[in-house]
Amino acid sequence: MSKKRVLSGIQPTHDSFHLGNYLGALKQWVEFQKDSDAFYCVVDLHALTVETDPKLLEKRTLLSVAQLLAIGLDPKQCTLFIQSHVPAHNQLAWVLECITGFGEAGRMTQFKDKSQKGGTDRTNVGLFTYPILQAADILLYQADFVPVGEDQRQHIELTRDLGQRFNNKYHEVFTIPAPQIIKSLAKINDLQDPNAKMSKSASSMAGVIELLDSSDAIIKKFKSSVTDAGKEIKFDEQGKPGISNLLTIASALSGKTIKDLENEYAGKGYGDFKVQVAEIAVEVINPIRIRTQELMADKAALLQLLKDGADKANQVASKTLADVYTALGLIKNG
Ligand code: AMP
Ligand code: TRP
Repeated sequence: MSKKRVLSGIQPTHDSFHLGNYLGALKQWVEFQKDSDAFYCVVDLHALTVETDPKLLEKRTLLSVAQLLAIGLDPKQCTLFIQSHVPAHNQLAWVLECITGFGEAGRMTQFKDKSQKGGTDRTNVGLFTYPILQAADILLYQADFVPVGEDQRQHIELTRDLGQRFNNKYHEVFTIPAPQIIKSLAKINDLQDPNAKMSKSASSMAGVIELLDSSDAIIKKFKSSVTDAGKEIKFDEQGKPGISNLLTIASALSGKTIKDLENEYAGKGYGDFKVQVAEIAVEVINPIRIRTQELMADKAALLQLLKDGADKANQVASKTLADVYTALGLIKNG
């Protein structure tokens, strides 16, 4: 049986990925490369929906690639590339835009949230068509699965709708990606506000653990994490959101179950527990930071690796695009 095709993408909008990205999504990327045919892209074109200094975007794109390699993506086992290196993404996006309803695109919650916050005058059209470019990212590679978090469910549904619509209207070109989104390994919350998701857009970074944080910074953030009333180390999301979040993090990082951790730390104080979780985190994150720095030091090697990735991606993408163009009646050149 041939391997299932997996595709996912992440935006290079920040210098560092955070622990939520890592435990909620990226760790799974590493798992999927083992027994599926995985395509992973850093979606730099999507990042243009947020105005960024060009030098910064360049740096963040490379930093994103380096971090993905540092956490364990292996170019021998997966295809890792940058979205803008494969022109078919934009080309297919245009075709899909022409079969997407205006209202349909307007119903995407991420767009609604962002445009409501910014107002229509400060909202660019790219933000509106963003999910259609994402659909193109996925459909081009005939992906069976798209490992993403819950927040992306609606975009995957749109992708399925557009793929099916095209197939019915013109020709069976696209594989329709599986409806079920692979469950996150863990939902990680902010250390300072354990009822809110750990997020790059938090008002303060004090509760956000970044993969490129120094060991000292990580320890400091864990030590000052918000805990709860009482003193028992017990998983109780409602009553003890702070301790539960720390248990979730420790479990996801160490591979131990929450039950085992509760037993291990029974009778210990919150202070001790926080230090222990910090140590577990440092042990995982430190090598990732060091490896990222090493990779960043050889830009030529990174670019070569990305070129190889883009070559492989282009082969698959250009075949799909050619089938799409033929189905639409666009005349071949030559
Ligand atoms: P973002 O670029 O912030 O949307 O994050 C990229 C991916 O990381 C999302 O699709 C989620 O799957 C995952 N992710 C982000 N934040 C968290 C979190 N706090 N806990 C778990 N997963 C997360
Ligand atoms: N929109 C996704 C996010 O914010 C990123 C993304 C772009 C993506 N293209 C994709 C994810 C294709 C999966 C597949 O997380």
